[in-house]
Amino acid sequence: MSLKDELIQDRLPSHVAIIMDGNGRWAKKRGNARVFGHKHGVTAVREATETAAELGIKYLTLYAFSTENWNRPKTEVDALMSLLVSTISAETSTLMKNNVKLNTIGCKEELPKSVQAKLNTCIEKTSENTGLTLTLALSYSSRWEIIEAVKRVAADVKADKLNVEDINADVISDKMATAGIPDPELMIRTSGEHRISNFLLWQLAYSELYFCDILWPDFRRDDFYRALLDFQGRERRFGKTGDQIKK
Ligand code: IPE
Ligand code: IPE
Ligand code: MG
Repeated sequence: MSLKDELIQDRLPSHVAIIMDGNGRWAKKRGNARVFGHKHGVTAVREATETAAELGIKYLTLYAFSTENWNRPKTEVDALMSLLVSTISAETSTLMKNNVKLNTIGCKEELPKSVQAKLNTCIEKTSENTGLTLTLALSYSSRWEIIEAVKRVAADVKADKLNVEDINADVISDKMATAGIPDPELMIRTSGEHRISNFLLWQLAYSELYFCDILWPDFRRDDFYRALLDFQGRERRFGKTGDQIKK
């Protein structure tokens, strides 16, 4: 039986978030520059997207470039931005073929105009697709997102559109960049690092976390299935006792 056949279709998560990590180490192991790893990471992005779309998962969110990543050497940042431009153009047909809608979260204004333009074209072109929503977190950090959300809440209070007493979790969620998207049930991080690195801190409150040692450019369909199978073996208790959940 293949790993895919072991999956229980009606217990798949509706939203999977992935911290795609390990491109640099993958390249270094092969005696190449870090950028080589980023280029090979694109194959893994395509495969993860196709896998999620095929399984009928509704939302896939990929951490592609963090606010903190701006602090990398300029040559690497520039190479990543050019890679984004070429990848978005080249992959639009794959997104169309798989009925995938592109979305982004993050401070778009910080991205080069060329990246913004390609993103906007692809978002527009895929906007009517009804399958998977693929969200790329670009120039994203969770604290940036939370600060922006707090500013929006404060502005609504100031404009008398919102009472302080009415601020609740739904109000905050609606001000996040991920408004309208359910919280991820599963978060995967590759490359053996066990941290969140400023990713979806609000949304991951009750997500199942899955860490694997595979470096991102090596992440394939079977690795995704393994993560999903691990997820399906977990008991999600949300504060209740195991006995309450089994009832
Ligand atoms: C993840 O791989 C890609 C980005 C953060 C853009 P890294 O570039 O972080 O690779 P490592 O962690 O140095 O191996
Ligand atoms: C997190 O990876 C950001 C992305 C995958 C885009 P990093 O490799 O930048 O994270 P840290 O700095 O090692 O935690
Ligand atoms: Mg890394």
